[in-house]
Amino acid sequence: MKFFRLLLLFVFVQVSAQQGGMWIPSLLNGMNESEMKNLGMKISADEIYSVNHSSMKDAVPQFDGGCTAEVISDKGLILTNHHCGYSAIQKQSTVEHDYLTDGFWAYKMQDELPSAGVVAMFVVRIEDVTTKVMEGVASLSSEAEKQKKIQDNITALTNSLPKEAWQENKIKNFYDGNQYLLFVTETYKDVRLVGAPPSSIGKFGSDTDNWVWPRHTGDFSLFRIYADKNNHPAAYAADNVPYKPKYFFPISIKGIKENDFTMVMGYPGTTTEYLPAVAVEQIVNTSDPAKVEIRDATLKVLDRFMRKDNAIKIQYASKYSRIANAWKKWIGETKGLKKSNAVAAKQKFEAAFQDKVIKAGKQAEYGNLLSDFEKNYAEIKDYALARDYFNEVVTRNAEILSVGYKLYQLEQLLSTKGEQAFTDRKNTLSTGIGDFYKDYNVEVDRTVFEQLINLYATKSPKQFLPSVLNSIDATKVTTDVFDNSKLTSLNGFKELLDGDTKTIIEKLNNDKGYQLVKAMADAYSKNIAPKYDEINLRNIATQRTYMKAILELSPKSARIFPDANSTLRVTYGKVKSYKPNDGVTYEPFTYLDGVMEKYIPGDYEFDVPQKLIDLYNQKDYGAYGSKGKMPLAFIATNHTTGGNSGSPALDAKGNLIGLNFDRVWEGTMSDVFYSPEICRNIMVDIRYVLFVVDKFAGAENLIQEMKIISTKRKR
Ligand code: ARG
Ligand code: ASP
Repeated sequence: MKFFRLLLLFVFVQVSAQQGGMWIPSLLNGMNESEMKNLGMKISADEIYSVNHSSMKDAVPQFDGGCTAEVISDKGLILTNHHCGYSAIQKQSTVEHDYLTDGFWAYKMQDELPSAGVVAMFVVRIEDVTTKVMEGVASLSSEAEKQKKIQDNITALTNSLPKEAWQENKIKNFYDGNQYLLFVTETYKDVRLVGAPPSSIGKFGSDTDNWVWPRHTGDFSLFRIYADKNNHPAAYAADNVPYKPKYFFPISIKGIKENDFTMVMGYPGTTTEYLPAVAVEQIVNTSDPAKVEIRDATLKVLDRFMRKDNAIKIQYASKYSRIANAWKKWIGETKGLKKSNAVAAKQKFEAAFQDKVIKAGKQAEYGNLLSDFEKNYAEIKDYALARDYFNEVVTRNAEILSVGYKLYQLEQLLSTKGEQAFTDRKNTLSTGIGDFYKDYNVEVDRTVFEQLINLYATKSPKQFLPSVLNSIDATKVTTDVFDNSKLTSLNGFKELLDGDTKTIIEKLNNDKGYQLVKAMADAYSKNIAPKYDEINLRNIATQRTYMKAILELSPKSARIFPDANSTLRVTYGKVKSYKPNDGVTYEPFTYLDGVMEKYIPGDYEFDVPQKLIDLYNQKDYGAYGSKGKMPLAFIATNHTTGGNSGSPALDAKGNLIGLNFDRVWEGTMSDVFYSPEICRNIMVDIRYVLFVVDKFAGAENLIQEMKIISTKRKR
């Protein structure tokens, strides 16, 4: 009995340790496959990725550059998040057809809406090309030369490695430049909108619930990929045909339990899991807090204006969401990194690393890495902070500065690339800028500006400030800029860009708003950027060697995965509750009941459509309900990040059980430091998706296309 308990404990420790990581699908054989099987997976790695026969990777395209989707029918039907399809849905919307508010459903293929610009990219195969990329690099001495040689090799290989005419070659860097993989891809360009629930389902909870568990968002939308007669990618054409996929996911509505195996496939964007302690310390204490403070100021102003003026609410809703998304993530990240003592954990790892270096007799090669990091990060700290201030304030939050910065770049273009480049850019700017001013409110921006210019002048490192910002009176600068600059209106902007090049440059340089942007941008490019780039280049080199050393000195069994880089990955884990705080445990499932608990009639975040209320009251859940309830979302220990939105969540047999869309707030630090204790990804249950498509929207045509695996008979 005692032995048995010990054995159980051993198994438990093993299992809970085997969490986290975003793995390359072509390299799952071996350690990953056996871990996955230990966790409950019932299929083989070969069914996930194969070049010899169709496999799951053939059903997981990257969606629209920044998200993931999955193919769910043999007619090219794909599923992704509502927030991933958001701009495509918005672009189709007019005053008469407001698909964001009301939803959209194509009950026949002819009704599907072409969505210009939306693309779906599949991975055909993955090959290691490290040796070829590194050819002739080792003999070079300076880091800059090495980087250049690597880039040249990548360009040459991308052009010369074999592929079909309709495919692309892409070479991506893994393990901080210790491995290079070739991805042969196919990008479909005729993607049409098929279905989207109203925002009161697809964006339910909006920014208040964003990054938060328990969650009740039906975050999905449906599209279809169209191909030419040969099933190859083609630009939109009326006679394109539905894409015939090599593979599509069967959907299981059997339901899931805590501790069930789950895996997620998708295109995670960026993580930095192998930073040294000193870098993590700077994220926690310097960069995250500065960025949060800036966005905090912006968001408070926007919120105040949006609440009292509906027109402003419409103009600023999507800007608010964008600014709030990273802001809220950084707050969660800082808390999580502190609470999990990430810096101390990294220091411990580094002490052990240093021991291994000595034991391996590698001091000459690796002995100084950690002290190099210490030096580099101490040196870069102020430059990095000043850079954060510049990027946040000038390019992301104060709109007058952002639009002014575009003109600054235009003036730069004249001196670097000449008159023709200047004119071309000027024309693109003039055509596009109307969209910006349509959603621009001077009062809002003026209020944001006054706060941010004050933060910039008082909190960003003083030594790099342009002289105009030394000892400023924020109110005076604000009046000066906003009472005089032409940048505050579309007409003013057009006036500035009217005339020949010389006149334009003169007018720009006489404009109060432009003068300020120029002073800030000049100071940035003289005092900050060159030195930042120089130290950063050193850091990149140190990080590459550090990563090499970690790979070399770790045992074969160590779980070292490459940081996310927007390439196809597999992550796996279990459906699991978590304890965010002492005395609190979050269950891993939510139900439609929670929507009704959060319901605030008429509220822009928590309103609920009448039809959904009716279905709830009648408990009319069809085949999708479970024990009288409608399952809605669930969490698991899959290691995901931005870009994984829309990723398929799969069960032990590889059936689709949900759609990834977020992470829990306490665990957003997983981008820097994954902890199986509190890091959870959030998925919408596929049963809720089907319930909305079938019962709410009555789009049976779509249900018919899918392959649904059930224990019960339908309806
Ligand atoms: N937090 C999720 C992600 O990072 C969802 C963002 C979209 N939703 C929102 N309310 N901003 O992308
Ligand atoms: N919401 C994110 C996305 O859009 C996913 C995440 O960061 O967990 O990709």
